[in-house]
Amino acid sequence: MRDVKIGSKDQRRISLKSFKTVNNPRSIHGIYPYRGKISALDANHIISQMPPHSILLDPFCGTGTIIYEAQKRGMKAIGVDNNPLACTIAKGKTEPVDKDATVKGLEIAISEAKSLGQPSIMPTSPSKYFHPRTSEQIMRLIAVSDGFSEFLLSVLYGSVCVAARACSGWKWSSTSVGKISDSLRDVDFYSILMRKMKKHIDFVCGSPTATIHCHDTRRLSDVISKASVDVVYSSPPYFDALDYTGYYSRIVLEILGVDRSSIRRGLIQRYSTYREDMIVSLEAIDRALVDDGLVVLVVGDRKVNGRLIKGAEFLAEIAPWENPYVVERSYSSTASSIWDKINKTHRKEQVIIWDLSTNPR
Ligand SMILES: C[S@@+](CC[C@H](N)C(=O)[O-])C[C@H]1O[C@@H](n2cnc3c(N)ncnc32)[C@H](O)[C@@H]1O
Repeated sequence: MRDVKIGSKDQRRISLKSFKTVNNPRSIHGIYPYRGKISALDANHIISQMPPHSILLDPFCGTGTIIYEAQKRGMKAIGVDNNPLACTIAKGKTEPVDKDATVKGLEIAISEAKSLGQPSIMPTSPSKYFHPRTSEQIMRLIAVSDGFSEFLLSVLYGSVCVAARACSGWKWSSTSVGKISDSLRDVDFYSILMRKMKKHIDFVCGSPTATIHCHDTRRLSDVISKASVDVVYSSPPYFDALDYTGYYSRIVLEILGVDRSSIRRGLIQRYSTYREDMIVSLEAIDRALVDDGLVVLVVGDRKVNGRLIKGAEFLAEIAPWENPYVVERSYSSTASSIWDKINKTHRKEQVIIWDLSTNPR
């Protein structure tokens, strides 16, 4: 990503860096391909400039990229998201795990799954992504997953996504679901699961304790006390843009028999109510912040009804804080840059920062 504009120097408590790629394959973050996942490299760079003793809140934490990076820095991190699948992954990345017990536990689960009688049949809609043998193995594993830790559930759901890609010949990207192959490959789900668990488990640090609330940020005061947070760092939901229950999550949720529309109803997604929803959310976030707090939001451009809306301008207008500084960058090596190519758009990403220590409320 390239920086193209930086706000006034005296306001700056955070500097931003350019990255040639936003991917970080050797990390915990590949555990699940969540749409809208923020770059962990960028998050790590931004967080490395924050005081390690500060309390950080990500009010739209998704799969906990920021929460994990803050935890790694030794910060007390609190995440809030109203998508239960995202919360499971965020917990899976940040809760402590006992490595030996987890490896043993998964071995036992796989052998139990293999010796089960007839498992339940995968629902028709997701089953079209898998070879019949792979889909049967997935259902067997799900049948024995009741006592799984959040980490093992994250591995299980991430493995379902890997298996879907593998059955279709690896033609999909890690963030977008492609065409289903005419001749689905028979891939061994148990091996994918074991490999994925071993790939990610050493990255779990588990301390200091991170807290994830599965809750609506419009009602943040239910879970976060007034003036209890030093830093808010988040990538909020975009206007109308992403269905956070779609893509790979659609496959996982349908296999689990979860009603996606009931999750979607609790999320900020519709442009028609976006402004109002974000005003309420930002007010709730403001209440949680200390007087000299720092707010860092990563947003993007969005074409709505033929008009390009700049995320930072939009938020600056409705936010309860004054004088933000904005860094605008172009997308590169991301799923967003692929969409830009397809749609012939040149959208930008903006990092918008309010430093309340220099610009008090
Ligand atoms: C851009 S994504 C954040 C992704 C995250 N940074 C990550 O790396 O996974 C925005 C998130 O906002 C969440 N969200 C939308 N409406 C919400 C609401 N009313 N309360 C809490 N979270 C909400 C969505 O579920 C989604 O996970």
